[in-house]
Amino acid sequence: MAITGSGSLLISFVLSAAFLQKVDSQNLATDNVSVIEGETATISCRVKNNDDSVIQLLNPNRQTIYFRDVRPLKDSRFQLVNFSDNELRVSLSNVSLSDEGRYVCQLYTDPPQEAYADITVLVPPGSPVIESREDVVSEGNETELTCIAIGSKPAASIRWMKGEEELTGEMTVEEMYDRMFTVTSRVRFSVTKEDDGLPVDCIIDHPAVKDLLAERHLEVLYKPEVRIEVAYPQGLTREGDNLELTCFAEGKPHPHQINWVRVDEDVPPNAVVTGPDLYIENLNKSYNGTYRCVASNTVGEAYDDYVLYVYDAPTTTPTPTTNPVNTQDSRAGAAPQKIDHAVIGGVVAVVMFAILCALIVLGRYFARHKGTYFTHEAKGADDAADADTAIINAEGGHNNTDEKKEYYI
Ligand SMILES: *[C@@H]1O[C@H](CO)[C@@H](O)[C@H](O)[C@H]1NC(C)=O
Ligand SMILES: *[C@@H]1O[C@H](CO)[C@@H](O)[C@H](O)[C@H]1NC(C)=O
Ligand SMILES: *[C@@H]1O[C@H](CO)[C@@H](O)[C@H](O)[C@H]1NC(C)=O
Ligand SMILES: *[C@@H]1O[C@H](CO)[C@@H](O)[C@H](O)[C@H]1NC(C)=O
Ligand SMILES: *[C@@H]1O[C@H](CO)[C@@H](O)[C@H](O)[C@H]1NC(C)=O
Ligand SMILES: *[C@@H]1O[C@H](CO)[C@@H](O)[C@H](O)[C@H]1NC(C)=O
Repeated sequence: MAITGSGSLLISFVLSAAFLQKVDSQNLATDNVSVIEGETATISCRVKNNDDSVIQLLNPNRQTIYFRDVRPLKDSRFQLVNFSDNELRVSLSNVSLSDEGRYVCQLYTDPPQEAYADITVLVPPGSPVIESREDVVSEGNETELTCIAIGSKPAASIRWMKGEEELTGEMTVEEMYDRMFTVTSRVRFSVTKEDDGLPVDCIIDHPAVKDLLAERHLEVLYKPEVRIEVAYPQGLTREGDNLELTCFAEGKPHPHQINWVRVDEDVPPNAVVTGPDLYIENLNKSYNGTYRCVASNTVGEAYDDYVLYVYDAPTTTPTPTTNPVNTQDSRAGAAPQKIDHAVIGGVVAVVMFAILCALIVLGRYFARHKGTYFTHEAKGADDAADADTAIINAEGGHNNTDEKKEYYI
């Protein structure tokens, strides 16, 4: 079969040589080929208007791979894909770097025509690797990441993404051997608290690969963020009130210490600190000041301040001599003065009572108001059926409840 084919080829060679004038219109074409190492390249030699001229394919050393549909070359990686009047198509499997070069399609016209197919072998880089100068970084500090893509042809290009943000790296390209490259890219940046947990991607751009990347998550340590919240009271802080502040502190690592201090002064003796809470019973104007919650971890320390301003107890309150909590004014020292105040307070209360009656306020509503006026603790009073209950509710848990009751009776 092969011999017969060759025989007819030689005949056609002779024939084509005989019609020299007509071959000019023959047109030989081929394409360059890029192929990934190990894969299959296809070389196609195409002829327009073939008058049966012999076509052959030569390797870069100009050895004949195919002469028409016959392969003189021993390399079985070359296979005939198509052979017709208009095309000689040959595949080369398991391409290696040494297959690279200029292949020649030749048409035996006179003079012979040639077309060149350059085979370019692409070698994808190995999986990229990100190396980090340090495992964890403290906020504000600089970190350095290095990404390496080893052994590619041509050299890969490296991009960096931190979350949605593109980073600019510094790239170095090194030729390992024979057109094989190793590419290194380095980025440096200062980290913030927000970077904690963010992915940093080293993205490889190379014609032989798609979606090749390495990822690393940043771990950032940051000092605590501190916030004081008032648990109680919701409104003004008045003398006799209880105050409860809660300190919220978050950081990485978790704050190992949370302290309450009073700026420039001592914390009142009756202040109780339970975990992150500061609790002060029975506020006194002398407690005015700045209360600070300080939290710290290995990265640093932070604080939040609460300025306490103790207001007078409500002025309509008759001042009980027996109950220092109800003293309207911290300057009122002498007992007679307190009694005067008590009398005035009583009169005012009676007038208020009369006005309220005239307005036909509901009994329950009235009682609630009375509770508000006569006690400084609104808490609990709203739900009480009468003033006494209101006082008891309001002062619930305090040992001066009896004193208050006594006063109203
Ligand atoms: C094939 O590649 C070579 C360079 O390697 C270039 O000069 C030539 O024009 C290319 N041919 C085609 C048909 O693209
Ligand atoms: C070879 O190519 C011709 C024309 O391009 C086509 O008609 C034919 O089907 C092909 N044969 C094979 C086996 O691919
Ligand atoms: C491909 O070629 C390489 C050498 O270039 C050889 O080691 C390997 O066994 C070949 N693979 C196949 C499937 O032929
Ligand atoms: C952060 O930088 C400071 C100096 O600026 C250094 O003392 C500290 O050790 C660094 N922290 C970390 C975790 O690298
Ligand atoms: C407030 O505290 C001062 C001393 O610290 C004390 O003399 C005064 O009686 C207190 N006032 C009240 C209303 O408890
Ligand atoms: C505390 O604040 C009150 C205002 O409610 C003010 O009258 C008083 O003088 C302040 N006391 C101190 C000790 O600063």
